[in-house]
Amino acid sequence: MANKTLDDLFYETLKDIYYAERQILKALPKMARAAQDEKLKTAFTEHKDETEGQIERLKQVFEIIGKRARGKTCDAIEGIISEGEEIMEEFKGTPALDAGLLAAAQAVEHYEISRYGTLRAWAQQLGLKDAVKLLDETLSEESNTDEKLTKLAETAVNTAAQKAA
Ligand SMILES: [Fe+2]
Ligand SMILES: [Fe+2]
Repeated sequence: MANKTLDDLFYETLKDIYYAERQILKALPKMARAAQDEKLKTAFTEHKDETEGQIERLKQVFEIIGKRARGKTCDAIEGIISEGEEIMEEFKGTPALDAGLLAAAQAVEHYEISRYGTLRAWAQQLGLKDAVKLLDETLSEESNTDEKLTKLAETAVNTAAQKAA
């Protein structure tokens, strides 16, 4: 107990995001199917493909620290995803569905951005240069996705949600 250091924290957090990414990989196709706006559907599908690459990068980071890739249940992502599922059910067939889905997706992205930002900083501190590079690539993808979603919300999805069915 007394000897836990930044290395342990890094490893624990890596397991957390590894678990989260695999949950997200399962959730994105459901969100793509549920979305009504074609651009939103495409955004979810494209991000699903990116997520596959992100999981591969995480495996490489585990390798860098000499550990086997494994996940640890992340309550935060489970909560965010189940809120998204709730929206899918409660707003099914309504004009507001896409705006709700998009908001749920942004909550996921913000969680990921927080985790990857932390992991990148810790990798830097630990002198894990290759890990910094990998984590940074993923962080950019998450930020770009978040920005893309913001644009979609502002240009189409929120307006559509305001209209009567
Ligand atoms: Fe991700
Ligand atoms: Fe993401």
